[in-house]
Amino acid sequence: MDTHVVEHPLAAALLTTMRDERSDNATFRNALRELTRMLIYEAIRDAPIEEFDVQTPVAVARGVRIATPPLLVPVLRAGLGMVEQASALIPQSRVGFVGMARDEQTHQPVPYMESLPDDLAGVPVYVLDPMLATGGSMKHTIELLVARGATDVTAVCVVAVPEGIRALADSGLPVRLVAATVDDGLNDDAFIVPGLGDAGDRQFGPR
Ligand code: PRP
Repeated sequence: MDTHVVEHPLAAALLTTMRDERSDNATFRNALRELTRMLIYEAIRDAPIEEFDVQTPVAVARGVRIATPPLLVPVLRAGLGMVEQASALIPQSRVGFVGMARDEQTHQPVPYMESLPDDLAGVPVYVLDPMLATGGSMKHTIELLVARGATDVTAVCVVAVPEGIRALADSGLPVRLVAATVDDGLNDDAFIVPGLGDAGDRQFGPR
């Protein structure tokens, strides 16, 4: 699976703020918003563009726009903190929603909500979720997208681990990954180490 880790000192500094247990909910949310901007820059870097003429106050210039804006799919709750910046950067994009909570005992994803366009043939999809741990939530989300015809999915994550990357690669699903870091791995509770804690709780408080 194609995996791109964003390497930039500003991204590393924002990630550090998110990791720091002393960062309160608002500080964490702000850092996630800003880091999302960088992740989206990288995710869309090679997207096809269309050229068109634009009239400046002086002359006609060639302008560009993204040929097919992606559908943005935040995975609730934690992905919610990424969608505002992503849609601000790509204003033509539509937004779909998937709600999923990981069972604390089994670590399996438990879906509780989906609101997605019926037909995703030919539509690039960016799934927004700060954490790729076992990969179960991401896999399930991509299966929902593929069932609607999606063939071009980008997982946009802050922290990924080798276990989750392997799970996505082994699934054979049409996905690539853009992340800010690949951490060491999972502990016995399937929490990312060193990670940043529970990205949903750290934005919105405990469930
Ligand atoms: C977290 C995270 C991912 C998932 C990752 O969500 O935001 O969705 O766990 O774990 P996985 O790769 O092992 O599936 P959580 O279930 O804590 O829900 P929340 O976003 O509502 O806090």
